[in-house]
Amino acid sequence: MNTILVGAQWGDEGKGKIIDVLTEQADIVVRTQGGNNAGHTVFVGPQKYVLHLIPSGILRPDKVCVVGNGVVIDPVSLVGEIDGLEKLGVQVSPKNLIISETAHVVFPWHRELDAQREVRKGQGKIGTTKRGIGPTYGDKAARVGLRVVDLMNAKRFPERLRERLQENNEVLRALGAQTVDYDTVLRDYTTAADRLRPFVANTVVYLHESTRRGANVLFEGAQGTFLDIDHGTYPYVTSSNTTAGGASTGSGVPPNRMDRVVGVMKAYTTRVGEGPLPSEDAGISDLLHGLGREFGATTGRARRCGWFDAVVTRHACMVNGIDELAITNIDGLDTVATIKVCVGYKVDGTVLRHIPADVESMVRCEPVYETFPGWVTPTDKATRWEELPDNCRHYLLSISQMTGARLIIASVGPAREQTIPV
Ligand code: IMP
Repeated sequence: MNTILVGAQWGDEGKGKIIDVLTEQADIVVRTQGGNNAGHTVFVGPQKYVLHLIPSGILRPDKVCVVGNGVVIDPVSLVGEIDGLEKLGVQVSPKNLIISETAHVVFPWHRELDAQREVRKGQGKIGTTKRGIGPTYGDKAARVGLRVVDLMNAKRFPERLRERLQENNEVLRALGAQTVDYDTVLRDYTTAADRLRPFVANTVVYLHESTRRGANVLFEGAQGTFLDIDHGTYPYVTSSNTTAGGASTGSGVPPNRMDRVVGVMKAYTTRVGEGPLPSEDAGISDLLHGLGREFGATTGRARRCGWFDAVVTRHACMVNGIDELAITNIDGLDTVATIKVCVGYKVDGTVLRHIPADVESMVRCEPVYETFPGWVTPTDKATRWEELPDNCRHYLLSISQMTGARLIIASVGPAREQTIPV
């Protein structure tokens, strides 16, 4: 059984935890897009783990984690992540982590360009994580990127590095930005390459052979549907395909080998960075921030919060082919007396049931709400569906029905135990 897991909103849906739960039934967990812009938080007992590039499957013994060809890798940061996990007692070796030789490499000039473009956009900035993700995918599309296979080639790498660095330093100089020092990058990247070499392999062949032998693979999506470069709220998106199709292109496992798609969404909506968020609401933002929740795992930024938006989640079901749903952060609404759900957008006197293509129209959209009675009872101790208050179950089943997929998991807190099968 090959399962794709995707975020149905703007990222931070609590995928890390659901992936961790689904990993129990998987043999292999694969990341297929994005880079260390992602931050997946998983609690095992009291221990908190924040993963950026390595699949959260690494926290379970006997699972193999793959960083696929569609991912962009900052090798220095990846070594830091491996070291950090080992310090916490998690074993990371070529037996449980395999890195694609055709993934593209993030360099310091990518990060610098990312920051520069944001500064130049001023008010219109995207609010990126400044991890160099956009410029790295840009180089990939422009066919000038360096891949892991280049980084691993000790003879060729210094020369390719010099070419790329010279061109990028010219651009950085023209922008009045800090240039990048060749010797420093060569030293840091060669050291990281030596450390990562044992982990590098042909992951496409590995995945094909494993699935032929009957292995169960879980494809862990990073970010969310509306940050997808094609299907998201462009240009306020990330630079990869965060939707289900990205799992195939980013791993080399073809679409007809995929068996199911699970979507993860919060019981409300959040977004980090700029861009439209029609159901944004200051009241629910204050409530969630006051509870100490909704701060980004990668950048620590406060997330913008709003009511559940059924227009976007329905769209997410459509483009991803979501069959099953996990709804997370239900306990975040435990104190709310009346819960709103956005069921349409009003713009220029018309009510839209689908998201407009033009981001400027989306910014002008006014949400049309339906209301639901809250449950005003703590849910975080519930372990069975029947233990959830009636109003809570009614709310969850209603939003799952509006979204158009079957609810399979209700999550009432960050711990593994706070996961209720439906
Ligand atoms: P980038 O991926 O760093 O280029 O950032 C582009 C947009 O995607 C920004 O709005 C970021 O806040 C958002 N973004 C990137 N990664 C994540 C994530 O893992 N969770 C939530 N938002 C993200």
